Amino acid sequence: MFATTKWIGAALAEPEPAAAPAARAVERRPAPGAAGASAALEGVSLEYDGATVLEDVSIDVAPGEALCLVGPSGGGKSTILNLLAGLVRPTRGRVLFDGVPVSGPGPERAVVFQDAALFPWLTLEKNIAFPLEVAGVAPAARAERVDELLRLVHLSRFRASFPHELSGGMRQRGAIARALATRPRMILFDEPFAALDGQMRELLQGEVERIVRASRTTMVFVTHAIDEAVRLGDRVVLIGTRPGRVIGEVHVDLPRPRRGALGGTRTALGGASVEDVQAVRIAQRIADEIRAEVDKVAREEADGAWGSSSGPDGGDPRRHLGRGI
Ligand SMILES: Nc1ncnc2c1ncn2[C@@H]1O[C@H](COP(=O)(O)OP(=O)(O)OP(=O)(O)O)[C@@H](O)[C@H]1O
Ligand SMILES: [Mg+2]
Repeated sequence: MFATTKWIGAALAEPEPAAAPAARAVERRPAPGAAGASAALEGVSLEYDGATVLEDVSIDVAPGEALCLVGPSGGGKSTILNLLAGLVRPTRGRVLFDGVPVSGPGPERAVVFQDAALFPWLTLEKNIAFPLEVAGVAPAARAERVDELLRLVHLSRFRASFPHELSGGMRQRGAIARALATRPRMILFDEPFAALDGQMRELLQGEVERIVRASRTTMVFVTHAIDEAVRLGDRVVLIGTRPGRVIGEVHVDLPRPRRGALGGTRTALGGASVEDVQAVRIAQRIADEIRAEVDKVAREEADGAWGSSSGPDGGDPRRHLGRGI
């Protein structure tokens, strides 16, 4: 639970143009156009108790880029996020944030996990205000920022609700608002919508696209669902397993905002657009590139009693890559 507070620290970024004088005193504003930071893993290897989890992983993330990581379970996607968050140190290689080696968590890098992990004893508005309080933001500026964030995630009416009084999707929106509170320059999502139903997931994908792009925050988003990666990513990096490594990448050159429901309702109703068709093709390419990896994991775990995922029992890997593996 408290892991989510690790990134909360001393500094703040970018006040509103009309911020109260009290806020200006404590907030630091990045140069215009520098909202999103760059990040990089350079030749990163990671071992736990002699077992190699990641091997020679190099990934560059450009400022403001939306990068998605997909790959089979156990490949090390969460570990890559933890490295970027500064929660884990590499055994070899370097992790850089804006060209500077990452030495620990910081408020400029926020993490949103699968489980929203809002503090259950605090109301929604107090949850969102919490990182601002820790950062020493004055009460007036804090209240202003909380109002703005509640509006952003369409939860103003629920400001006084406790997490248990909110739906799963609302809690996730609350967690996103809290993560954005200190205006991080990079936001790291670890399968944030995996526990939600399809409609809610699609709604929140649209919200993330809107919110993250409006703030020009750099995003690294881990997901099992290839359709989600194609919806949200400017680029999708494919992570293989045993040991975890980069096995490929695909650029998603589709206009934004993108439509959801890849292969879903609209397509089923015959309303597929050119973009939908392109998205399906990209998703298929990703699925093709990593099918061998999914097979490899499944075969190992099923002790050889596994047929190819491209066979009749493999399901559609474009949608839920490796889920349940
Ligand atoms: N703290 C740790 N100690 C030992 N091993 C760990 C630790 N954290 C992760 N691992 C191992 O590292 C490997 C990668 O784990 P990680 O959680 O990063 O994979 P993942 O790609 O996020 O998987 P999933 O898709 O299931 O979430 C796994 O084999 C896991 O057992
Ligand atoms: Mg994970």
